[in-house]
Parts: sequence; structure tokens; C-alpha cells
Amino acid sequence: MNIKCVEIMSEKFLEGKGALITGGASGFGKSVAHAFSERGADLVLVDINETLLEETSREVEKSTGRKVIPITCDVSDSKCVKKMVDDAFKELENVFILFNNAGIATTYGVDILRVGEKAWDKTMNINLKGQWLVDKFTGRKMNRQKFEPLRGKIIHNSSHYGIVLSPFVPLYSISKAGIIALNKLIAKTLAPFITSNAIAPGFHVTGMYGHREDIMLQVMSDGDVKTPLNRIGTIKDVVDLILFLGSEKSDFITGHCFTVDGGITEAGVPSHKLDVEI
Ligand SMILES: NC(=O)c1ccc[n+]([C@@H]2O[C@H](COP(=O)([O-])OP(=O)(O)OC[C@H]3O[C@@H](n4cnc5c(N)ncnc54)[C@H](O)[C@@H]3O)[C@@H](O)[C@H]2O)c1
Repeated sequence: MNIKCVEIMSEKFLEGKGALITGGASGFGKSVAHAFSERGADLVLVDINETLLEETSREVEKSTGRKVIPITCDVSDSKCVKKMVDDAFKELENVFILFNNAGIATTYGVDILRVGEKAWDKTMNINLKGQWLVDKFTGRKMNRQKFEPLRGKIIHNSSHYGIVLSPFVPLYSISKAGIIALNKLIAKTLAPFITSNAIAPGFHVTGMYGHREDIMLQVMSDGDVKTPLNRIGTIKDVVDLILFLGSEKSDFITGHCFTVDGGITEAGVPSHKLDVEI
């Protein structure tokens, strides 16, 4: 690891900055909460799961000594999101980073012509409308902040399924492709003072897989997924990318979607040609 990387990983570069993390109770959101607060940020964590949210918030606050405010909110409910964002700016005084992350895995193994309308609505409402609503209410307030050279940074959570759409998870894939489009429009709309980027993780054991590696490996096997870098993804792989996107090292980058998937999406090597185990 070179010196610059070490700086990002250890510096308190978020001191005096507030971060708003949706889906903050579990998985990527929870680990990013630890990582941001360890680097000096105060946090608002948002989740629909009140019990888990309280637990995670206490845990992060205790281990890092930073302010961590839990706000229970369904990101697909516009009234709730508006109030949550108002409260977040009041509690933190600024929101320099938004990690727009809450999402769900939905209908598995049902093709696009057979999925039900309720499943469509639920997936799009939480995964796509949810991130749009949080951007909508956060973006304009963020743009009035006095930080220089950037007034804030937005990071959306898409998925490798948003790039290479999967017939196994058609609704999830469409919702995540929508996030990549949303990200580009937000980047154009909020330039030049706010950056907006997206991440596209691959396969990582989180609440989305019931915290079970065996379930995730089954999903990979169903999709005949082989990983060029020959291991499964960790939560840390994703946190490291988020730290880069939340730091000044990425200040000249906006509108992009970064895959962090061991090469599944972008390397494009046909799986049958790879002599790998995972
Ligand atoms: N785990 C993976 O391999 C993977 C891969 C690509 C993308 N993602 C994306 O990562 C993001 C985070 O998921 P995760 O993998 O950490 O799973 P997770 O289930 O551990 O965390 C998701 C969190 O979002 C919360 N949430 C769900 N619906 C909500 C709502 N309506 N309002 C507010 N909060 C809500 C959940 O309660 C949960 O705490 C999701 O957007 C997911 O699509 C995950």
C-alpha cells in the first residue's frame, strides 16, 4: 500500500463533517458508519428497522466516540424522507457526505414477464424512488453549504446487476440500472460544487443474503458466476472504495459508477474459460 492510500485509511479527514447514511443499520451501511466516524465524522443513520438501527447506532457511538443519531424512516415515503433530511441537517449542522444506500433484494428466479405488479412497485419504490427522494431533499440543502472546494459528496449504491442485467433478478436489475442513470443526472444537476458517484458491488455477504455465505454462493452458482480475482467480495472491499469517494482524493471525479466485484462485470471474461473456483 502506498503512502497516499495509508493517509485515506488512517487520517481523520472527516472531522467537522456530517455524514448521512441510509440503510445504516446493517451490511455496507453499518460498516461505512464505523469507517466514517473513525475518521472524525458525526453521523445520522437511517433505517426502516428501528431495533437494529438503535443497536448499530449505540455500537458505532461507543466504539468511536462520535455523535451518531438514529432516525427511523422508510426511504420510499416522501413525507418521512423530507422530515428525516430536515432533522439530519439540524442535528449535524452539515451533511457533507450522503451515502444513499438503503435497498432490498426482491423476487428471485421469476422472469420479467411473470413478476407481479406489487413486487415491481415495492422494488422500484424502495430501491429507485427511495434514493431519488433522499437526493431530492438533501441535494439543495447540501448545495447551500459553505465548504470549499466542494460543498458535498453523494455516493449512490447501485449493483453489478445494474450493469449486466440478470433475468434471475429482473426487478432488482432494473432498479439498479435506474440508480446509474439517477447518479449521472444528479452529477450534472449539482455540478460544479457537489460530486455524485455510484458504486456497483458484486457479491458480498450482508443482510441481503441473510448474512449467509452459502445462500450467496448458491445465487452465484445459479447465475454461473465466476470471479476473475478468484475470491468472494468482502464488506471491506466496498468500504475502501467508499472511503476514497468520500475523501478529497476523488474530488475531480463525478458521474461515474465504480464496480467493486473482483472483475465479474468489467473484465468480461467468459466464465467457462476461467480456471477459478469461485
Ligand atoms: N450485498 C451485496 O452483495 C450487494 C451487492 C450489490 C449492491 N448491494 C446494495 O447494497 C445496499 C445495502 O445492502 P446490504 O447488502 O448492505 O444489505 P443489508 O440488508 O445488510 O442492508 C440494507 C439495509 O437497508 C435497510 N432498508 C431496507 N429497506 C429500507 C427502507 N424502505 N427504508 C430504509 N431502510 C431500508 C434494511 O433494513 C437494512 O438495514 C443495497 O442498496 C443493495 O442493493 C448489495
